[in-house]
Amino acid sequence: MEMRTRMMYMTVAVIVFLTAVVSVYSQEDVTTVEDSAFTEKMRPPVPFLHDKHNENALIHDDDCNICHHTYSDGKKLEDESSEDQECSACHQPADEKNHMELIKAYHNRCKGCHTTLKAGPVLCGECHVRTQ
Ligand code: HEC
Ligand code: HEC
Ligand code: HEC
Ligand code: HEC
Repeated sequence: MEMRTRMMYMTVAVIVFLTAVVSVYSQEDVTTVEDSAFTEKMRPPVPFLHDKHNENALIHDDDCNICHHTYSDGKKLEDESSEDQECSACHQPADEKNHMELIKAYHNRCKGCHTTLKAGPVLCGECHVRTQ
């Protein structure tokens, strides 16, 4: 093959490969909750094997908006999901140094359900697991 043709094939191959790598990354690859709004963490990150957790918790495919919800005029939209957004997209006030509202959103959702169902971790160290 001519050099230029080979270069072109290689470039195409690289692009195809990268597209595949990017597009297979999805919720099943989520293993921790690490919201990008927390730039300086006080606690270790929370392990969260997305799909396995939801399977164990019997959260079904049409219940994604238990966590990934959207609202309109104060009402939750049952058929809509915000899975493409982090919680901080909506629960982080413009005053970006104060994380209290965002922390509460996570704790109310995560710990709240565990408390209600009497299943899943509720103590700080059970979620914010120290790894070393
Ligand atoms: C118990 C809460 C919870 C439920 C239920 C849930 N998710 Fe998630 N999901 C999360 C958290 C936490 C993250 C990671 C932080 C983020 O990006 O919001 C996440 C991330 C994602 C992402 C982004 C992955 C990436 O590229 O970073 C997708 C897509 C997603 N979830 C889809 C779904 C779908 C589809 C369902 C229903 C079958 C679902 N989720 C149910 C909590 C949940
Ligand atoms: C698209 C914007 C948006 C996203 C993304 C979002 N929320 Fe919300 N959330 C809202 C709005 C609006 C309300 C209702 C007003 C309020 O209480 O702040 C709400 C309410 C809540 C509530 C209290 C009401 C309830 O449902 O019990 C919790 C807890 C909560 N969100 C947690 C989360 C968590 C955890 C995530 C990420 C997995 C998340 N939210 C993602 C907009 C969003
Ligand atoms: C709708 C209810 C519900 C919500 C919301 C929820 N969980 Fe859970 N979670 C459960 C249940 C039920 C279990 C226990 C499952 C079992 O018995 O194996 C559990 C178990 C866990 C465990 C133990 C290991 C595992 O994966 O089973 C972790 C860690 C955990 N949850 C983290 C979280 C985090 C972090 C969030 C918020 C992003 C969250 N959970 C939101 C119901 C929930
Ligand atoms: C059910 C699981 C769960 C429990 C129990 C829990 N947290 Fe969290 N917490 C979370 C999740 C999920 C986040 C979001 C983490 C992230 O995005 O990095 C969070 C965020 C935080 C943050 C902000 C991020 C940081 O590291 O600075 C602090 C502080 C925090 N939690 C402290 C606590 C304390 C103190 C307790 C006990 C009183 C506690 N948490 C119990 C799940 C939990």
